Amino acid sequence: LARGPVAPDLAGRHVVISAGGTREPLDPVRYLGNRSSGKQGYALARTAVARGARVTLVEANTGLPDPSGADIVRVGTAVQLREAVLKAAADADVVVMAAAVADFRPAEYVTGKIKKKDGQEPAPLTLVRNPDILAEVAADRAAPGQIVVGFAAETDNVLANGRVKLLRKGCDLLVVNEVGERKTFGSEENEAVVLAADGGETPVPYGPKEALADTVWDLVSARLG
Ligand code: CTP
Ligand code: CA
Repeated sequence: LARGPVAPDLAGRHVVISAGGTREPLDPVRYLGNRSSGKQGYALARTAVARGARVTLVEANTGLPDPSGADIVRVGTAVQLREAVLKAAADADVVVMAAAVADFRPAEYVTGKIKKKDGQEPAPLTLVRNPDILAEVAADRAAPGQIVVGFAAETDNVLANGRVKLLRKGCDLLVVNEVGERKTFGSEENEAVVLAADGGETPVPYGPKEALADTVWDLVSARLG
């Protein structure tokens, strides 16, 4: 992607970005996962580095090559992601939760591989809720001016659901994607609306994930003191 010189408007800022999708293990060989590719989070990391930020990228199961200039923390599960994000957020100016966090995890981890038994149906899977990392970061800001950004993928009533979610999470910005067959998962491009807690609504036309990332940083930059 050809880009001209970028203003270093994030110089001296520490930004924390989560990317990818958590995997919740059932046994040593199986997990519950999701389709997040991590590409939007990586685009956020690359553009933040280009704009001068110190970047901590908390990466869950993406398999993507490390972006240069970012500190990478690798995690697997939602509980590990929470720990890594909270730790990095302690001195962060901005936290962006682009990762797809599993809402539920298996209630118990079976230490040996789960085996079939002749003539028996499988036991039902019991799930428990994972912590809501975004809501927690937004509620317990490490510093008063810290900016917190969330992502949401919605299939219906995208803007209305997005507004409700922004309020419920308590974040400053929420990037809302409409998901459909062709859209978002694994693709190089994205289309979204960025909702702001102050009422702002910024549509981002279908285009490269870097363009959406730069719009997010523009909005963040304007809100940093
Ligand atoms: N998120 C989080 N921790 C969770 C679930 C979600 O931090 N346990 C974050 C995601 O990283 C994302 C935002 O919350 O930035 C919205 O995720 P989404 O799945 O859309 O929200 P949920 O509250 O889980 O709502 P839903 O029931 O629609 O999945
Ligand atoms: Ca969810």
